[in-house]
Amino acid sequence: TKAVTIPTLGALRASGEKISMLTCYDASFASLMDRCGVEVLLIGDSLGMVCNGHPSTLPVTVAELAYHTAAVARGSKSAMIVADLPFGAYGTAETAFHNAVQLIQAGAHMVKLEGGAWLADTVRFLTERSVPVCAHLGLTPQSVHQLGGYKVQGKSIESAEQLKADALALQAAGASIVVLEAIPTQLGKEVTELLAIPTIGIGAGPDCSGQVLVMHDLLGVFPGRKARFVRNFMEGQGSIDDAVSAYVRAVKDGSFPAPEHCF
Ligand code: KIV
Ligand code: NA
Repeated sequence: TKAVTIPTLGALRASGEKISMLTCYDASFASLMDRCGVEVLLIGDSLGMVCNGHPSTLPVTVAELAYHTAAVARGSKSAMIVADLPFGAYGTAETAFHNAVQLIQAGAHMVKLEGGAWLADTVRFLTERSVPVCAHLGLTPQSVHQLGGYKVQGKSIESAEQLKADALALQAAGASIVVLEAIPTQLGKEVTELLAIPTIGIGAGPDCSGQVLVMHDLLGVFPGRKARFVRNFMEGQGSIDDAVSAYVRAVKDGSFPAPEHCF
């Protein structure tokens, strides 16, 4: 199959075909997800929680993400590979670029960072230097202490308007895609309609251009508290291949997320 590129994602959005994205942390799962047709593999800093057992994503380092990114890159053939810039790795545009280079050289095609319009200059700095960027708005787990927990964002009129302004600013700065986490369905729809670039939702409703899940949640193996937007795709399936294929199908046919996964 052909390599998934930024134009591929734009074409999927334009045609109305939903984009499927999953987190991935090693070569074997990368190979599996790739052959199941997952378009985007994310080496998320969620690896600190699901792989390393930390209570948050905050302890994850660039070196750890680079190590896992290299493994995923070795295992995948055609998926687009996105790696998280972890907490503390993008305080200035220069440090963001230095750290993004580590992830790109490890095999990522794009880096993801969390935050709004305050990051526009950083996103421009990266994209001007040929580092594609995925933005991440709504519930941004690296801000857990400032947010006071893992809570739904964008519920008030003011915060919804702020999120839309942030999304437009990041798009204007050159972001290629935007992850929207834990926001009301209506806001996910409005942001998706407002932007020209694809939106990828996790707890952001069915109207986003695509969906993302943490693979341990999809497989039902994460021992922690299960978020509302999680669905265990192993239920009713006989293998991990079947579960991942069921996820891709459910994203494409719009049956995931269902109302019970939304806010
Ligand atoms: O780290 C991660 O897994 C993520 C996704 C939940 C979007 O950022
Ligand atoms: Na993340």
